[in-house]
Amino acid sequence: MGSALPHDLRCDHRTTPLGVAGAPLLAWRLEGADPVAYQVEIGDLWSTGRVDDPAAISHLYDGPRLRPRTRHTWRVTLWDAAGSTSSAESWFETAHDAWTASWIAPDPDAVEHVDPPTEGDRALSAHGLLPCPQLRRSFQVPAAVTAARLYVSAKGLYDARINGERAADAELAPGWTDYRRRIPYQVHDVTRLVGEGENVLAFTIADGWWSGFTGFDPRRPGYHYGRFPELIAELHLTLANGSARVVMTDGTWRTAQGHIRHGDLLKGECHDLRAATPGWDSPGFDDSSWTPVTVRGADHHLLVPSCDEPVRALRELPPLSITRTGPRTHLVDFGQNLAGRVRLAVPAQDPGTRVTVRHGERLEDDGGLHTANLRTADATDVLITAGGEALFEPRFTYHGFRYAEIDGLESLGEVRAVVLHSDTRWTGAFECSDPEINQLQSNIEWGQRGNFVSVPTDCPQRDERLGWMADAQVFLPTACLNADVAAFFTKWLHDVRDAQTPEGGFPNVAPRLTGVAEEGAPGWADAGVLVPWHLYEVYGDARFLDVDSMGSWVDFVLRHNPDLIWRQRTGPHYADWLAPGPATPREVVATAFFHRSADLTARAARVRGRHADAERFERLAADIRTAFIKTFAHPDGTVSGDTQTGYLLALAFGLLPASLAPGAARRLAELVQEHGPQAGFLGVNLLCPVLSATGRPDLAHALLRRTDPPSWLYQVRHGATTVWERWDGEGAPSMNSFNHYAFGSVGEWLYSGVAGISQARGSVAYRDLVIRPLPGDLTWARASYESVRGRIAVSWERTSQGFVLDVSVPPGASATVHLPDGQTHRVPSGDHHFASVRGDTP
Ligand code: BGC
Repeated sequence: MGSALPHDLRCDHRTTPLGVAGAPLLAWRLEGADPVAYQVEIGDLWSTGRVDDPAAISHLYDGPRLRPRTRHTWRVTLWDAAGSTSSAESWFETAHDAWTASWIAPDPDAVEHVDPPTEGDRALSAHGLLPCPQLRRSFQVPAAVTAARLYVSAKGLYDARINGERAADAELAPGWTDYRRRIPYQVHDVTRLVGEGENVLAFTIADGWWSGFTGFDPRRPGYHYGRFPELIAELHLTLANGSARVVMTDGTWRTAQGHIRHGDLLKGECHDLRAATPGWDSPGFDDSSWTPVTVRGADHHLLVPSCDEPVRALRELPPLSITRTGPRTHLVDFGQNLAGRVRLAVPAQDPGTRVTVRHGERLEDDGGLHTANLRTADATDVLITAGGEALFEPRFTYHGFRYAEIDGLESLGEVRAVVLHSDTRWTGAFECSDPEINQLQSNIEWGQRGNFVSVPTDCPQRDERLGWMADAQVFLPTACLNADVAAFFTKWLHDVRDAQTPEGGFPNVAPRLTGVAEEGAPGWADAGVLVPWHLYEVYGDARFLDVDSMGSWVDFVLRHNPDLIWRQRTGPHYADWLAPGPATPREVVATAFFHRSADLTARAARVRGRHADAERFERLAADIRTAFIKTFAHPDGTVSGDTQTGYLLALAFGLLPASLAPGAARRLAELVQEHGPQAGFLGVNLLCPVLSATGRPDLAHALLRRTDPPSWLYQVRHGATTVWERWDGEGAPSMNSFNHYAFGSVGEWLYSGVAGISQARGSVAYRDLVIRPLPGDLTWARASYESVRGRIAVSWERTSQGFVLDVSVPPGASATVHLPDGQTHRVPSGDHHFASVRGDTP
């Protein structure tokens, strides 16, 4: 097996990040033999010394304060039992600590309100979208440049360019936060772009979430956080002659209205190439006709370094088909519902030719684009040509679509769908003998891509795209298997905590948006507790557990519901949203989540060594449970309302005593057998896990493979390439998204149930695995998961001889392996093969 090898070194859940603040968590994955000890060091600055801990996969830096804006190289060394050592090295750079630049923008009174050249389009012209300003500064560098870092943010969105080239691959930067509470900045390594002589630092800025259309709130069309976008940037240069130089945004910058007539996340983008000024972002351009910017202050107190990877353009899809639907109209089918935008090569045209790209997830019966479910999101991009060939790709918008209708061209050049999402590294793979289930897995993955765009959103297409907290909470376990989302959710938990009220209330959506369902509903607001707990279990980083924040939420609910049945302050109480069956009583849903939040807060307090708090919340959780049983549970184990979600919550959250749980499980099984799935957003993630944990994996499999509505495979049979908002895809178009991941939360059970990868109760960071494949009547399945500890893999197959199972357990972990025939094995790390000849009926 070789020695214990550290690999994939990460700092605060990212690889070689720039802009690290505070004391970082330094982590590694394991390969090879079990380690017995580790050491982490940063050059001469700091070393842990040898630490005898066979399970360690990270160390929280506890050395002297790290110098800002500095690269620190760190090394981890592992010892194995045979005494051999091996090490690996990585680096990170620390954040900026003392901004001096000013926020700049064009003078708002001088901004020319151009009528968007989309006359006749009611929605677009009605709201007077503004052009996206260009800002530039030319500067001289007296010597060669050895290092250049661009620190940049915007109120709005920015696109950075240096000497005519894009300076960063971040899209929709700086991303979305509640800008009243924090404004993230990014750090870009731009060394290769800056040199001796004249250089130009240039930006285009746009409204984005700051001042563009965000969400659906009709009272505030745009302008959620501010009225006009602003920019702040500092370019720090280290020169070969040993000196340093800083170029920053200030009153010396000049600005002009660019050729981007408007760029809006929901409405779309318009480029008028007739107004383009080639060379504006390069040396030698005459900007004497440009106007000076206005300085909008130098307040830096909200600026924080980004702690997640940005949105990037992560793949491109060619069209599956292009159909000519009119003399100058084409319908492009990309074969996949996705979030992103179209890049189009436009052959030479008469100057002023207008090309319009509209987007839709589906087609109407007559073959036209289905756009009714976009609501007020026009999702329309426009190019006005200047005559020559052009390459059109919007910069400041994205759309949810599978189809694009391109109007205005007799023939198209190359056309691609550019897929955008937050860059979370893929860690999981699942496959089995049923191609329809594999399509479901693909749909779930695409739902994750399309909805992890700076924040976890409900959907990417209509005028919503909000950080709905229940959607995130139920999908999180699936998301964590598919991809490493630790940094992504670290950032989102800041949004969640920023949104918490002084009284302790969590909202329904984070980042908070004024006017949008501000007071949290059961199961939505509770994400403020459920999400950090799950992240801690998966990634082992106790910093996720902010006990004060979690506890003040629980205390908030308690204060308003002293009898422990949660009836007051339930916000817009969405109950078990979009459940196709009878409604679960609201108090049952709410009280179950009240218990869950109290229980997890108690556990979090234990982990953080806050034992008095832990005891208080343990007692509270026990008392809520008693109240739940007294109020809702009956002697035969039934629960008030007699609904699937009522039983699922009661069983999954441990609300019923051993005397009642079997009755509840029986009744759940009867309901599932009779009706198929009847769970909505708050129960769906629990359906298969609870059925299998209560001895009915056969029913979980029956649900998984069911094709009548409501079911997952009904969607697959009807051509879905992402998971739908509604089980059956039927309903008023205004609430009928075809890319909503909540029902895709069954993905977790594909890994944990069908393939059989999970961790034991109480295990953290996959130290103690449970491998329990549930084959149903599938003939094979395999899954792998790059856990925070190392690679876990399971592959099983029914052969003529019986059931064979191969399992890989990462170093430092052990596993209990349950074969379908009842055999149980306890195994250490390494690769293991099992066979059972006695039949494999679970
Ligand atoms: C969103 C959901 C969200 C819900 C609240 C909807 O409009 O699309 O996914 O959770 O509102 O009930």
